[in-house]
Amino acid sequence: IVEQGERVFRLSISAGQKEFVPGVVSPTIGINAPYLGPTLEMRRGERVRLHVDNGLDDGATVHWHGFELPAAADGGPHQLIRPGARWSPSFEVRQRASLYWYHSHLHRGTGPQVYAGLAAPIYVRDDEEDALDLPSEYGVDDIPLIVQDRVLDNSGKLLYPQNMHAQMMGVRGDRLYVNGTQNAVFDARTGQLRLRILNGSNARFYDFSLSGGQTMELIASDGGLLDRPHAVRSLRLAPGERAQILVDLSEGRPLSLLATSPDNSMGMMGNGGGMMGGGMMGRRRDDARTDEPFRILDIRPSGSSPRRNLPPQLAALPALDPSLAVRTRRFVLDMGMMGGGMSINGASMDMNVINERVPVGQWEIWEIANASMMAHPFHIHNVQFRVIDRDGHAPPPLETGFKDTVIVNPREQVRVLLRFEEHSDPDTPYMYHCHILEHEDAGMMGQFVVV
Ligand code: C2O
Ligand code: CU
Ligand code: CU
Repeated sequence: IVEQGERVFRLSISAGQKEFVPGVVSPTIGINAPYLGPTLEMRRGERVRLHVDNGLDDGATVHWHGFELPAAADGGPHQLIRPGARWSPSFEVRQRASLYWYHSHLHRGTGPQVYAGLAAPIYVRDDEEDALDLPSEYGVDDIPLIVQDRVLDNSGKLLYPQNMHAQMMGVRGDRLYVNGTQNAVFDARTGQLRLRILNGSNARFYDFSLSGGQTMELIASDGGLLDRPHAVRSLRLAPGERAQILVDLSEGRPLSLLATSPDNSMGMMGNGGGMMGGGMMGRRRDDARTDEPFRILDIRPSGSSPRRNLPPQLAALPALDPSLAVRTRRFVLDMGMMGGGMSINGASMDMNVINERVPVGQWEIWEIANASMMAHPFHIHNVQFRVIDRDGHAPPPLETGFKDTVIVNPREQVRVLLRFEEHSDPDTPYMYHCHILEHEDAGMMGQFVVV
């Protein structure tokens, strides 16, 4: 059934193949493609309907990460699409222009499905952003970068490690891909380039920077434009987080986008000591490259061009006013001994338990505390929130706008302000969870309903 005025997307999930090294074929999953999927472009205010066909031999789900929508359209673990079945959610695009994404959210199977390729970007556009003079020609001066790391076995085949180390730390690869391509090159034809970066990795955090120490202008976070551009030299993104930057190419010099991987083990695995004790695990190959930068994208300008000015103001963001909150909820993230007790507030994800009932239309503070030795990116469905503070300190530039995923460092407490504006449904839950996919699959996830 298609209502008038709905824009229709047809997505077909199927098994595919990809050569991560020439001549060696690996099985993958793709959406309308052998691996990953098409960028969907939507406009704020329009209604969309997505026909999602599951051509796999396994169940799958597709979640619209960052979207505010009815719980039944969310694509979480309860919206299972059985093999051969079609799921056709419809919703109004409510949130601001930005980079969002869609990916598998299969119960206890999100890590392997996203890793195999079940993920792709969504562009939302709106009038507020169109009124600004920002690069916005897709593939020309405005490009998405899905950054993902992968492990290949000795023969060059894609490998999803399932040993205890990988399950506890999350699966981290030693090869980095942008939109499925290693050592990617972009031939730029303009003097200013807009990069929309999505950390689509299962577990690895990245610090992004430009070669030669050049600054980049940070213009947007998960939920759209910041109030103004911020010149930054480095930018940290955890799995699930996005950022948009403008890169100046007016001098015509080639440059590279670099990524280093901050150590997210906080002494747990480091040098064979810490909690694990002794050399039992030691440092593995997939944790080794922590300070050597990966060159993930080489940008080659066609020549010099006049410097394009930045708009001094980007978006008029509402003032952040924590006194609006009528209550505070607390969430404590923990991993248990050896990662065997991935939990939030002492409980592991249970499909049959609603952990929180949240009244629609009321402002709340969610206080997220990390009791473990690793940083976790905490993601909340159906909302774009504001970060109030981290351990009482003002948040960095990336967190001055709207977010749906936020890093919570070891022993730290992050407070966010949020409100679910509509879509109450007492029977269908949304999720909140760690976006390290192996942690999510192992139970660091909870369910809430908006009532
Ligand atoms: Cu991007 Cu609940 O996930
Ligand atoms: Cu989500
Ligand atoms: Cu985690």
